[in-house]
Amino acid sequence: MYTPEALGTPFSHNATKVLLLGSGELGREVTIAFQRLGVEVHAADRYADAPAHHVASESHVIDMTDATAVRALVEKVRPDFIVPEIEALATDELQRIEDEELATVIPTARAARLTMNREGIRNLAHEELGLPNSAHRYASTFEELQHGAEEIGFPCVIKPVMSSSGKGQSYVGGPEELEAAWDYALTGARVSNARVIIEQFIPFDYEITLLTVRSIDPETGRDATWFCEPIGHRQDRGDYVESWQPAEMSETALDNARSVAARITGALGGRGVFGVELFVKGDDVYFSEVSPRPHDTGMVTMGSQRLSEFDLHARAILGLPIDTTLVSPGASAVVYGVDSEGPVSFSGVREAMSVPETDVRLFGKPESYDRRRMGVVVSTAETVDEARARAAEAANRVVVNGS
Ligand SMILES: Nc1ncnc2c1ncn2[C@@H]1O[C@H](COP(=O)(O)OP(=O)(O)O)[C@@H](O)[C@H]1O
Ligand SMILES: [Mg+2]
Repeated sequence: MYTPEALGTPFSHNATKVLLLGSGELGREVTIAFQRLGVEVHAADRYADAPAHHVASESHVIDMTDATAVRALVEKVRPDFIVPEIEALATDELQRIEDEELATVIPTARAARLTMNREGIRNLAHEELGLPNSAHRYASTFEELQHGAEEIGFPCVIKPVMSSSGKGQSYVGGPEELEAAWDYALTGARVSNARVIIEQFIPFDYEITLLTVRSIDPETGRDATWFCEPIGHRQDRGDYVESWQPAEMSETALDNARSVAARITGALGGRGVFGVELFVKGDDVYFSEVSPRPHDTGMVTMGSQRLSEFDLHARAILGLPIDTTLVSPGASAVVYGVDSEGPVSFSGVREAMSVPETDVRLFGKPESYDRRRMGVVVSTAETVDEARARAAEAANRVVVNGS
């Protein structure tokens, strides 16, 4: 049984063990953060040589949506903590594992279950907590979609209830675009589940991610909540292209954002980092969604904060003190892949790194395709604008060469 008073030694009988479910670039940074604390990290993914596999204590390849496979791995590894890195998991099995006290699921099994499906988290945010968010309907057939869209009105946004990174998502300007949106949603859905959400389009001024951390306050010994400075970001086709911190916002909007974030993360409970996605219009803040884990737009914190969101996740999971200090304005920009038969190579890294205060992270993904996130550039500067310009320039200089 883990306690913050007894961090163990890897590969020994007293090791503190983490099982990471999902081994992408965010999981890789979480792995590194844990290893700096002498934690034994087991990284699982559905394919071999995933980014976190390169750095984990041990790698595992399983179908993480298969309840039997997940349980077998948990029984083999015997982790103190199960740390989900993605949404598509056998969450009912995680609930049983938590109920049997086999391991602690981060932040909780219920949070993993609710956030896997847009319907689950919307029910909590909207119906139970009454947080401001877009009007919405659900549809499981094309007729229901037509009906729901008429009720919501145009423009609206159609998304599979289970999807991420903008997959299967469409902006719909009028009824004539519904059929294409329905077809696209069915191809983008993560599982063969013909169910979509129809959301009222929010003409926001800007959107932010508010990284919110739940850990134990060393002064009181009780659970407490910390906020990072807000992160601004720009999305293209539902996928993040660049982010920056701090995002400029009014005091009132920031207060509202923190209040929404405190309520949703408090309702989800547990410990760890949460990425609370919010739309801001004037001083009004709308809840969009929440990741119960570090957020892709939060990669900027590798340069801008004293402790990155990954360090914070590791600390929070272990119940250790939290420090969300911003050390410099910063920005991140994504390096995208190209369609390639074999592994890709990167050139221009030297040129990218010669941009002042700029770092390049390449994820080492074994396969590349168009729009796949293969790396990220992180820059700092005296102002956010300058950091953004630096990151954009550096990302531009990195060239991905297919084969
Ligand atoms: N209702 C909406 N109104 C306006 N923009 C939206 C709406 N829903 C999504 N978007 C845009 O699409 C992006 C991705 O949507 P999101 O619901 O976060 O999907 P995902 O789970 O794939 O990240 C958002 O960050 C925002 O830029
Ligand atoms: Mg999102």
